[in-house]
Amino acid sequence: MQPRTPQPLQHRTVLLHEAVDAMLTTADGTYLDATYGRGGHSRLILSRLSAAGRLLALDRDPQAVAHATSGEAAVRDPRFAIRHTRFGALGEVLADLGVQALHGALFDLGVSSPQIDDPVRGFSFRFDGPLDMRMDPTRGESAAEFLQRADEREIAEVIREYGEERFARPIAKALVARRAGGQPVATTGELSAVVAGAVRTREAGQDPATRTFQALRIRVNAEFEELEQGLNAALRLLVPGGRLAVISFHSLEDRIVKTFIARHARREVDRDSPAMLSRGDEAPPLLRALARIKPGEAEVAANPRARSAILRVAERTDAPLTDDALAAAEPRAARRGGKAAGSKAAGRPKGRA
Ligand SMILES: C[S@@+](CC[C@H](N)C(=O)[O-])C[C@H]1O[C@@H](n2cnc3c(N)ncnc32)[C@H](O)[C@@H]1O
Repeated sequence: MQPRTPQPLQHRTVLLHEAVDAMLTTADGTYLDATYGRGGHSRLILSRLSAAGRLLALDRDPQAVAHATSGEAAVRDPRFAIRHTRFGALGEVLADLGVQALHGALFDLGVSSPQIDDPVRGFSFRFDGPLDMRMDPTRGESAAEFLQRADEREIAEVIREYGEERFARPIAKALVARRAGGQPVATTGELSAVVAGAVRTREAGQDPATRTFQALRIRVNAEFEELEQGLNAALRLLVPGGRLAVISFHSLEDRIVKTFIARHARREVDRDSPAMLSRGDEAPPLLRALARIKPGEAEVAANPRARSAILRVAERTDAPLTDDALAAAEPRAARRGGKAAGSKAAGRPKGRA
């Protein structure tokens, strides 16, 4: 485990030009950067907009918003506005800003380097620090609080589903045993040690704690539910020809984006009952899938974080945004009254905005 990093915490934007080129269709348009981070994409978007263009940004991390609004790196541009909020509140926040239509929306998912590399945020097994993992530390339950409260079954489900960890059960058992002994894990170092003791075979080149850390981060930040809500809200605002650009960093996240686009671009095949038609099945699709882009070798060599990135781009068709068109793209399970996220581990953290 490394000591606290002394360098200023910087973020190297992934797929910078690819994402902005794909999303920006008119210099006079109104755009959304839903994941400001340190503003890499936002700054390039602004440089491409005309005086009539507009960029709205958001981030659930107060540090990202502070970075955009104060200090040397602040964006002082009348065409720009940023709000501290999460994807789930995107619709209301844009309505408050008077935005009724978007020409493009960008989501660069996951955490930024300043979040991962700051030990105090508790995201990384590389540094010892409090086991927090909240992108927005002003609300909700930290990873340590979740592990303090949840039962063994829930912990195992989260680690298995969101980390795809085959040793989820022994890890959960070890965590609960430690808690029962009066020593609940409180730091990233303690969590790493418990996981290392419970994982029997190690994957080459990967820390044994990688999957467990990913799982807890996804759970603590309700990342998949947030993503579904953000994509749905953006879709409702896109003008015909407007673009959705989403960069994901692991396969579970990419699957949500891919499925969302596929559901809206063509009819989903219902494997349970292919003949079953639901309300809206005849409505024309709202999206057209345009591209799937991966970083080139040079970018991956310069920035290892780019290695797993996938950018998906879709374009809003000119089909009217009717209730039937939206209903047609809901997951079949949800249409039949099931859970939209379809996940046993998908519980919303408490105390969210
Ligand atoms: C990968 S970074 C974005 C980096 C940015 N594109 C740049 O070039 O600097 C992801 C950012 O999105 C924010 N974020 C992730 N999920 C979010 C959500 N559900 N709502 C709002 N912001 C979110 C994180 O706090 C983080 O700052």
